Amino acid sequence: MIEVSNLVKKYNERTAVSGVSFSVKKGEILGFLGPNGAGKSTTMKILSAFIEASAGTVTVNGFNVASEPRKVKASIGYLPENPPVYTGMEVESYLRFAARIHGVEKTNVKKSVEAAMEKCGISDVRNRLIGNLSKGYRQRVGLAQAIAHNPPVLILDEPTVGLDPRQIIEIRNLIQSLGGEHTVILSTHILPEVQATCSRVVVIDKGKVVAEDTLDGIAARMQSNARLTITTAKDPKNLLPEIQKLDGVVSTSVGKTATEGEFVVYVECQKGSDIRSMISEKIVHANLSLLGLFQEKLSLEDAFVRLITVDENLDFKREDTQHV
Ligand SMILES: Nc1ncnc2c1ncn2[C@@H]1O[C@H](COP(=O)(O)OP(=O)(O)O)[C@@H](O)[C@H]1O
Ligand SMILES: [Mg+2]
Repeated sequence: MIEVSNLVKKYNERTAVSGVSFSVKKGEILGFLGPNGAGKSTTMKILSAFIEASAGTVTVNGFNVASEPRKVKASIGYLPENPPVYTGMEVESYLRFAARIHGVEKTNVKKSVEAAMEKCGISDVRNRLIGNLSKGYRQRVGLAQAIAHNPPVLILDEPTVGLDPRQIIEIRNLIQSLGGEHTVILSTHILPEVQATCSRVVVIDKGKVVAEDTLDGIAARMQSNARLTITTAKDPKNLLPEIQKLDGVVSTSVGKTATEGEFVVYVECQKGSDIRSMISEKIVHANLSLLGLFQEKLSLEDAFVRLITVDENLDFKREDTQHV
């Protein structure tokens, strides 16, 4: 339903999106997860045919955003990062106006707007001025304008930013209920949002996709991995290749230590494999004087932090995040 291939966006000299590729299947709710400045909004504006790409190809609902922007716009509902607020308009009039702009036939406007208000739970505020609504209700109005013309694709840029916890839950439930019927891509910088609403996630950092998986997949792949912190009195450097070869070991790295004469090594292990006894034997056997062996589970939040720092310098970056 959405195909993004080698997308690049440069703002003058600054590269905001740097060769991004991913796809979204029909009926799927895809989370587009990344920290601030990662390039999420830029990507979504290009998907919505609001700004042009510097390079790459994007098709939405079978239409090319560069050559068929009008058809793309007719296929999507877009909730921008900062939705325009027509504070002086009443909810229903605004939604009718938006539906007309999105090409809904005059005779169908009433019915379409009615359905959208119903879905978004705003029928009872239809005569209120948008400017007098709470942020949560305004966001619902934003969602209602995105779905009123019943587009096959919804592009939602940080849909719950600025809402209170109760509103967040309501909006997430609403988005979830839109999946299946609509194909949804939603951006967010917080992992729980993805966990609550999406079936699959594309993680973006510094303009690049750094991970892509189902939510279960990422959790299974990462959550249960364990990290061993090993402290020795002698430099264990020469033992690392041997540890790396052990069944269940994902990676090894050298850590920093605050204590002189102590050495720290981190070993990341796959879930279900407990290699503590094997490692301690090897260390004792090599006469390295084992001072400590500590195992911790990597949580999904950790996993996310790792995902967005994955590169050839991974080991060094991870050292920095460790407090020994
Ligand atoms: N109109 C613009 N002009 C210049 N730089 C921009 C513009 N919009 C975004 N950027 C830059 O592009 C990068 C990605 O921004 P953005 O797509 O808004 O990220 P996100 O939505 O993930 O926070 C950032 O470094 C941002 O400063
Ligand atoms: Mg943004």
